[in-house]
Amino acid sequence: MLDRTDSAIPTELIISDCLSERKKLLIGTSGQKSALIKGHNDQVLDAIGDDLEQKVRCIYIDPPYNNMENFEHYDDSDKHEVWLEKLSNHVRRLKRLLTTDGSLWVSIDDRQVHYLKVELDRIFGRSNFVSTIVWEHRKTRENRKAFSNNHEYILVYAQNATAFKKQRNQLPYNDEVKSRFKNPDNDPRGPWQSISLNVQAGHATKSQFHEIVAPNGRKHTPPSGRCWMYTAERVQDLTANDRIWFGKEGTGVPRLKRFLAEMKTGLTPQTLWPANEVGTTDSAKKEIKRLFPDEIAFDTPKPVELISRILNIAADPGDIVLDSFLGSGTTATAALQNGMRFIGIERGDHIVSLCHRRLKPLAAKYEATVNFFVLPEKQTTEES
Ligand SMILES: C[S@@+](CC[C@H](N)C(=O)[O-])C[C@H]1O[C@@H](n2cnc3c(N)ncnc32)[C@H](O)[C@@H]1O
Repeated sequence: MLDRTDSAIPTELIISDCLSERKKLLIGTSGQKSALIKGHNDQVLDAIGDDLEQKVRCIYIDPPYNNMENFEHYDDSDKHEVWLEKLSNHVRRLKRLLTTDGSLWVSIDDRQVHYLKVELDRIFGRSNFVSTIVWEHRKTRENRKAFSNNHEYILVYAQNATAFKKQRNQLPYNDEVKSRFKNPDNDPRGPWQSISLNVQAGHATKSQFHEIVAPNGRKHTPPSGRCWMYTAERVQDLTANDRIWFGKEGTGVPRLKRFLAEMKTGLTPQTLWPANEVGTTDSAKKEIKRLFPDEIAFDTPKPVELISRILNIAADPGDIVLDSFLGSGTTATAALQNGMRFIGIERGDHIVSLCHRRLKPLAAKYEATVNFFVLPEKQTTEES
């Protein structure tokens, strides 16, 4: 596995000579280096892929979903098979850039998710499929359709699912979770939550079946099919330490006090990501409009909160993250906000009018440097 303190990881991004650097579009002069690259994403990866092999911790992509629309900033209408093949070929290029514990996250809608899943299973191997996230991308009801479509998907694949699971981060405790910790007995160790002291008896040892005697003398045995979490000696220690809770009146079944201050790990990410936690397409559009009231609205941005959550699960500060369908620059924004380096690739002119403008103040704020490169597009036979 790649050791992040290993000197093999460049402190500056290595960018191949074939990209021409636009010095006048350089942002910042010190700190960690990131790259904005204007060009066709396949061609860019063919040019710089060798330099980035196994160096990217997290890749997020939000490709056109092929929903037959022509947006202001890009077209989204290919034959289904052509769209799928192009995207699969692109993902093959991306896969080799991932570290052993790296992961690829792909946004996609209901119409294409199943076709894409089969292709990605082929590329990564079914054992490296991690999960499908359901993102509530709109809160309002769409009344013109038979069903109001309120969610999108994010497919998550790992270069190596075991390595990913070991290294991925948990989510910080949010206010909702923290509010579940109370202090009804004024314990000087602060707020706590009581959890069940009995567990399934499947793998129990004899020592886990015993009587717990409450301070009021009442004797408790585990319910049928269950055993105590701990041996009698351990429960005695915990009781002496005021870590077993028998209810306010002392008449309840014994439960374990779990203190907020002692919680080391965070929350295991769930697969349902509600709008009130990570934003909606609409909130993302409003944010772009707020930033650039003079620009033509960008139709399909993702909210920064959504991408920030992805990056925080999949990567750590200092890591390299990549988005090869950068759009309005959301992934780059989230990377800078979280102290990560990014490589953002976008073929449209909005890489200057939106991404560059959006990142300029952020690079100054977070003392990062963003180099701007261009790879002139070669016409491919399929596009000519
Ligand atoms: C759905 S948008 C991405 C939106 C982005 N996630 C955001 O938050 O703004 C897809 C973007 O991919 C770009 N794109 C499409 N094909 C591309 C290609 N072959 N190379 C580079 N960019 C491409 C489009 O120009 C468009 O900006």
